[in-house]
Amino acid sequence: MQKGKPKPKGSVLAALDVGSSKVACFIARVVDDDGTFEVLGVGHRPSQGVKNGIVVDLDEAESAIRQAVHAAENMAAAELRGYPLREVIANVSGVHIRSEGHSVDVQINGHDITDNDVLRALAHAQEHAATNEHELIHTIPTFFRVDGHDGIRDPRGMVGQSMQVDAHLVTGERGALRNLATSIERSHLDISACCVSSYAAGLACLVDDEIDLGCTVIDIGGGVTSFAVFHAGYMIHCDCVPAGGKHVTSDIARVLVTSVSDAERLKALYGSAIASHTDESDMIDVPALGENERSKPNLVPRALLIGIIQPRFEEIFEIIRQKLTDTGLGKIIGRRVVLTGGASQTPGLRDLAQHVLDKQVRLGRPIRLHGLPDAVSGPAFATAAGLLTYASEHTAEMPAEIMAQVRPESFVQRAKLWLKENW
Ligand SMILES: Nc1ncnc2c1ncn2[C@@H]1O[C@H](COP(=O)(O)OP(=O)(O)OP(=O)(O)O)[C@@H](O)[C@H]1O
Ligand SMILES: [Mg+2]
Repeated sequence: MQKGKPKPKGSVLAALDVGSSKVACFIARVVDDDGTFEVLGVGHRPSQGVKNGIVVDLDEAESAIRQAVHAAENMAAAELRGYPLREVIANVSGVHIRSEGHSVDVQINGHDITDNDVLRALAHAQEHAATNEHELIHTIPTFFRVDGHDGIRDPRGMVGQSMQVDAHLVTGERGALRNLATSIERSHLDISACCVSSYAAGLACLVDDEIDLGCTVIDIGGGVTSFAVFHAGYMIHCDCVPAGGKHVTSDIARVLVTSVSDAERLKALYGSAIASHTDESDMIDVPALGENERSKPNLVPRALLIGIIQPRFEEIFEIIRQKLTDTGLGKIIGRRVVLTGGASQTPGLRDLAQHVLDKQVRLGRPIRLHGLPDAVSGPAFATAAGLLTYASEHTAEMPAEIMAQVRPESFVQRAKLWLKENW
């Protein structure tokens, strides 16, 4: 199983990453059978109306989305032949997302296992996850067993009496998903599929060996730090911590009593997640809140700034370490961590993550998308880039696709489906 064949060469796809700090839209074309893309248009704007990954103000979110999409459409105008974008694949983020595993058995009765047997198993697993409050986002088969034999990557074509499938089901709260959809649809765009932000970041930045051997992607954005665990070719777990770079900025503004925009500037210019021996002697000038004209500088040691930044990131990594332990996945989580998201650019953050998580840590950036302008080729754009890969290669994990393709096996099941569809 695992990833499917990419969409045919020449297919044009559009991704929309609605984040807490920025909204980004990428339009790209599949250029190779290995799933690489060429960029046709990009647009990004500071986000509004999004908090901790969730849309909290429809009008504001709609306006940022509209502007980012227009900018990308304009850049890709020649390729789109003047037509507006019709559909996008969108990211989903926030604490409402749940990740859980379900194991289901289906009877094979001695025939060859077909695509439809796998679909039947997944459709059956989906029944466990969707509720009145939660909607399915991903249905990922992670493990197959045929007549008790495990270690099977693709059961299709094998013969057996029964097949067991472990599925990783990811759901999100219907309300949060609805608000995201409304803010996008108001810009006259359909959503072709949704993908969890950290999953997309992993699809954009991980090499195949990392996805196979076990790796955790931690996407540190503005309002949320989301993470996804990959193993044996699949995403097997995802979760998040509702804090990110914006929280660091407001910590700085509060402690140094300066404006949020000055705090953001100080963070970008002098910030670090790890202290060094010169920090006590290096002095930085902090504009005091509300004072437009300043007679003398307000100098504070750089060590004070780092002393604000470090504990916040340390806390985020400690929560992630605990959450990873709580999954009970043990060693299969692997020793590798890849950091993405805008805040991963904080100097020293890689070392801090390595220290707290006790893993090998590297910084990630999109690797499957050619022609990205420098300004949008960094780790903050990993999610947008990965949404394209998800749309191209992972349609088999989309719950609606599974339901659309599955055929009921028995007469009773067919009758049930007929009744469901017609009454
Ligand atoms: N060079 C940098 N050094 C440190 N932090 C940075 C840098 N560049 C951006 N950031 C921080 O990255 C954060 C934004 O990251 P990103 O663009 O990934 O967020 P987002 O995707 O909009 O939000 P989220 O995923 O949380 O909903 C901001 O808090 C910003 O301060
Ligand atoms: Mg993000």
